[in-house]
Amino acid sequence: MTWPFIDIQGLEKRFGAVRAVQPCDLGIGSGEFFSLLGPSGCGKTTLLRMIGGLESPSGGKVFIDGSDVTRLPAHRRPTNMVFQSYAIFPHLTVGENIAYGLARRRPTPAERDAAVQRMLELIHLPGFADRRPDQLSGGQLQRVALARALVLKPKVLLLDEPLAALDKKLRENMQLELRRLQREVGITFILVTHDQEEALTLSDRIAVMQEGRVLQCSSPRELYERPTSHAVAAFVGEMNFLPARVTRANGNSVLLEVAGLGPLAVPPAACALAAGDAVTLALRPERLAIRPAREGQPIFEVRESTYFGNRTLYQVAGGGLAEPLAVFHANDLERADAVFEPGVRVGLTADAAAAVILPA
Ligand SMILES: Nc1ncnc2c1ncn2[C@@H]1O[C@H](COP(=O)(O)OP(=O)(O)O)[C@@H](O)[C@H]1O
Ligand SMILES: [Mg+2]
Repeated sequence: MTWPFIDIQGLEKRFGAVRAVQPCDLGIGSGEFFSLLGPSGCGKTTLLRMIGGLESPSGGKVFIDGSDVTRLPAHRRPTNMVFQSYAIFPHLTVGENIAYGLARRRPTPAERDAAVQRMLELIHLPGFADRRPDQLSGGQLQRVALARALVLKPKVLLLDEPLAALDKKLRENMQLELRRLQREVGITFILVTHDQEEALTLSDRIAVMQEGRVLQCSSPRELYERPTSHAVAAFVGEMNFLPARVTRANGNSVLLEVAGLGPLAVPPAACALAAGDAVTLALRPERLAIRPAREGQPIFEVRESTYFGNRTLYQVAGGGLAEPLAVFHANDLERADAVFEPGVRVGLTADAAAAVILPA
């Protein structure tokens, strides 16, 4: 097995004047659950279709398991695709739909039935072979679509927003189901989604795309905790951005003067910094703690509080900041008595170790 299993080199796609995918390099491992995440129109589908051979690139190459597949049609690649619109044939039974994926292999009836049974067990729908698609729920239909794509035993399954049509609860169930299926079959999954929570919970690694470019490619945790750009920090989760100036920078830490919060020692940035540089400090709402106001420390005022059951979101203004800060407050046992009404004067404590320095 070669690393990377899927090697994308300078791959790009132009539709006339539209640069749908800018020259892009990515390496994806065998057995990896990999996601392409970004807003609508950023080029996710186009990139996925080029990997699957459904779209021809304007430049660059795709290698799978060491072979150059750039010029191979879809049916000669070890890939298969699942779409948002399940693309289930309404006039065929569930079993016939799954077997349809096998037709090109010309299986004997016994081989076909065994493969269908195996797939129905894999998707936890045994006994559904003779059902008609109109007797199935949305989640069941999408599982049948997955089975039909997996029955040919591809080495790579490409999934284009497969859960986008499902409502929230069902989508969350199907996310767990997707992850289970991927572990069970052990092949590479590449998932396209605009839903950051979905990408974070399912993926081994995520490539965040914007306007045809890959901005960052890393594990969910690194993406969330160590974004390398303003765009990624803003797209993945909630983020506060604070203007700041470097007071002192050495290898291990950077001392900043942060608007509203005062001096903070934060982890070093990816880029070189010198005293006097203007930067932006990114800080997650759950990395700010709200507390009663104290004499001699910056005072803020609660503008709004929104109750979410397990947590409360506070909008807190003051300290000369142009924008209010978002603060998440866990509504747990220890802090059940700490409720801050709008208009109340409060102080803030920042978890400086979790702050990220970005270019101003
Ligand atoms: N067949 C096509 N012809 C012309 N433009 C296209 C075509 N397919 C996609 N595009 C354009 O390429 C860009 C990326 O599209 P797409 O890959 O579908 O994005 P996403 O899947 O992230 O929503 C968009 O601006 C879209 O309008
Ligand atoms: Mg798309």
